[in-house]
Amino acid sequence: MSELKLQFCVENEFEMVSLGERVAKALSRPLVITLAGDLGAGKTTLARGILNQLGHSGHVKSPTFSIVETYEINSFRVSHFDMYRVKDTEELNFFGFHEYFDISDLILIEWPERIATVDLCVDLEINFTIVGKARNLNFNPMSESGHSTLNKLVQ
Ligand SMILES: Nc1ncnc2c1ncn2[C@@H]1O[C@H](COP(=O)(O)OP(=O)(O)OP(=O)(O)O)[C@@H](O)[C@H]1O
Ligand SMILES: [Mg+2]
Repeated sequence: MSELKLQFCVENEFEMVSLGERVAKALSRPLVITLAGDLGAGKTTLARGILNQLGHSGHVKSPTFSIVETYEINSFRVSHFDMYRVKDTEELNFFGFHEYFDISDLILIEWPERIATVDLCVDLEINFTIVGKARNLNFNPMSESGHSTLNKLVQ
């Protein structure tokens, strides 16, 4: 397995959406991606780019309050989580968190730090850092699928 890691400097919201579109074009299914970074770092904006490219034309709601938003786009299932408000990982059992892994083609998890004690099979970690108006994104592949996604992303 190659040790490809990627870093992007994203200057504005438009570029963040474009990068999300590139991620969507590169991804192999099924895939689990974590999106980690401070409030306003652009995690949901990247998710919007991914969902748009997959064919979702409506609004992309931040799952901060609902914890999960699901999409079915031409039989491609996406589950978009935001764990910010999860206080106790027991809460995950209430809504059958683990079952989403069986039914989703793509799982996006914002604030994965909140559920750090839960064993997750993550394919790709994307870490966001705010640098003024720009955002630095580090892509760390964690599996064969994560690597193949990154390889396609740079082609
Ligand atoms: N370079 C940039 N890339 C992305 N968003 C940017 C950038 N510069 C400014 N912004 C602004 O930052 C905000 C990012 O919001 P977004 O909801 O995507 O963040 P988030 O990481 O999901 O936050 P939260 O942790 O609250 O869910 C938007 O209001 C966007 O306009
Ligand atoms: Mg968000």
